[in-house]
Amino acid sequence: LSVEGKKVQLPIVVGTEAEKAVDISKLRDETGFVTLDSGYKNTGATKSAITFLDGEKGILNYRGYSIEDLAAKATFLEVAYLLIYGELPTQEQYAEFEDSIRRHTIVNEGVRAIFDNFPVNAHPMATLSSLVSALSAFYPDSYDEKGKDDRHIIRLLAKLPTIASWSYKKAQGHPVNYPKNDLDYCSNFLNMMFSLPVEKYEVDPVVASALNTLLILHADHEQNCSTSTVRLVGSSQANLYSSISAGISALWGPLHGGANQEVIEMLEAIKADGGDVSKYIDMAKNAKTTGFRLFGFGHRVYKNFDPRAKIIKKAADDVLTKLGVNDPVLEIAKGLEEAALNDEYFVARKLYPNVDFYSGIIYRALGIPTNMFTVMFAIGRLPGWIAQWKEMRAMKEPIGRPRQIYTGATLRDFVPM
Ligand code: MLT
Repeated sequence: LSVEGKKVQLPIVVGTEAEKAVDISKLRDETGFVTLDSGYKNTGATKSAITFLDGEKGILNYRGYSIEDLAAKATFLEVAYLLIYGELPTQEQYAEFEDSIRRHTIVNEGVRAIFDNFPVNAHPMATLSSLVSALSAFYPDSYDEKGKDDRHIIRLLAKLPTIASWSYKKAQGHPVNYPKNDLDYCSNFLNMMFSLPVEKYEVDPVVASALNTLLILHADHEQNCSTSTVRLVGSSQANLYSSISAGISALWGPLHGGANQEVIEMLEAIKADGGDVSKYIDMAKNAKTTGFRLFGFGHRVYKNFDPRAKIIKKAADDVLTKLGVNDPVLEIAKGLEEAALNDEYFVARKLYPNVDFYSGIIYRALGIPTNMFTVMFAIGRLPGWIAQWKEMRAMKEPIGRPRQIYTGATLRDFVPM
């Protein structure tokens, strides 16, 4: 609204006739002045100093460091430290952080006993969320009530890859591998996944480096379904293990972390149907009649390229070339991207590939099965969730209570049957 030549902001109460009469996204784009009620779908309801995301420009920074720089030069644990503690570690701080993580990679055998009773075909995300929650029963001494003891943070970072590898091993019919703590974080995970009792296994540095990049790219993405879940659950002062378990459950869905699994399945289906990219581009444009949805395109926040997608596309090319893997779905993915970027329908709607579009192709090349893709996302996102939980507690945020607009019946008389 303009008053005496100056723009002023008026509150628009969600759910009122006034809100219905206004195209909020248009008003926001034109004035930059609309503030939605905090309960309005979580987004924008939190102040945070962790991750900066400009969806218009396709910019993503962690604590002020560009994602491109970090993905090219940092280790995942450096990024974890940066997100959780706010600054990059000195050499001494890094050595201490890495060492404390190494010392906590083994998981209590009681947790293993629970895991042993899960079915062989349990989804790895079901296993992960349950066992992370169970950690609060096994490590209650590490709850951080005063903010001085970080053992719960270290334990989670250390144990998540160990637990994740168990699901894979069980599905393969193999015994689990114990952590090998002389290895770095990524190599240790790969060794737990792929080492077999009878064969010598050497972690390929190309594979370890690709995994490092992928984990960094997934380390935080400001408020979204899983992150705001972690903050919301944690706002009741629930312990970190329970809060992260809730975040893992939120991530599982196909609209969030499960999306890269959907992408691979879609690319496989296109390949099985002869790989005709233009046919599927046309089907996506006529989704209302065809029912076909192009997974991995577009993002609720990005109106430009998801910066992570650009890095992942290059990484996919590099990794597949270096490993000598010829995966036809990479060519189909590139074909879809190129066709879409040259098609007015996609250009007008700013539908660019997002982070999920290429990540599954790399995971596959690394030997990680499709039902583990979301688990990989969770390992990457863990430091971000921890940082958000820690920040929420440090800011002494009140318990979350999303606003509700009641849309049900008015008072009715109860007439017994
Ligand atoms: C993510 O990285 O969490 C996804 O892109 C979802 C999102 O942030 O909207």
